[in-house]
Amino acid sequence: MSKITIAIDGYSSCGKSTLAKALAAYLGYAYVDSGAMYRCVTLYAIRKGLIKDSHSFLPEEIVKLLPEISLTFKFNSHTKSSDTFLNGENVEKEIRQMMVSSNVSQVSAIHDVRVKMIAIQRELGKNGGIVMDGRDIGSNVFPNAELKLFMTADTDIRTQRRFDEYTSKGQHVAFGDVKLNLIHRDHEDTHRKENPLVQAHDAIVLDNSELTREQQLEYVIKLIKDLTLVVD
Ligand code: DC
Repeated sequence: MSKITIAIDGYSSCGKSTLAKALAAYLGYAYVDSGAMYRCVTLYAIRKGLIKDSHSFLPEEIVKLLPEISLTFKFNSHTKSSDTFLNGENVEKEIRQMMVSSNVSQVSAIHDVRVKMIAIQRELGKNGGIVMDGRDIGSNVFPNAELKLFMTADTDIRTQRRFDEYTSKGQHVAFGDVKLNLIHRDHEDTHRKENPLVQAHDAIVLDNSELTREQQLEYVIKLIKDLTLVVD
């Protein structure tokens, strides 16, 4: 049986990437974190001095940088996931910093940025055998994906997860700031003009507020088997 495409969309910090990585490992598929791509563009723009705060945001200048940006992914055998490389540099850590998180929604709303990222995503997924997570993967990037999941979870639970992630990496952040950032990003992602976060009409909703990682993986594997999408 040919390899399928699995699209996972949902709100920020819902555990999309955790589930996507586990699924990809279970199925022997590639995992692509589409949010990491928008984060790379944001990081590059910050490094070039184009984003200092939300008032000094220069979309036209950011678009001019796009030809200079090359994105690649390499499997990391320690983390069992793929690392994101910006022009050959592993930026997996930098792109998760608060400065990037605070500006990435604005950058991802720029038309030309989306066009370039979507083209890369479609190229990566053209042969199937991929699990990709993001905001518009099932609704726009791969509208014919065989399995589409739409993930959601309680805001406080999501904030706690993201807060724990920052602190485990030694980054000092306030719980309230993390929560505000999540709420702000959800609003930006669902209200932007182009490819906003929407639940694809054929997506299956997964609220994981009360589910462990193992339960989520078990649920989706059962779903795949029940839908006879992949046969052992
Ligand atoms: O999944 P993430 O939090 O790392 O994504 C960072 C931002 O990138 C998110 O706020 C919205 C944007 N994004 C997007 O617009 N489309 C995607 N497919 C993935 C992410």
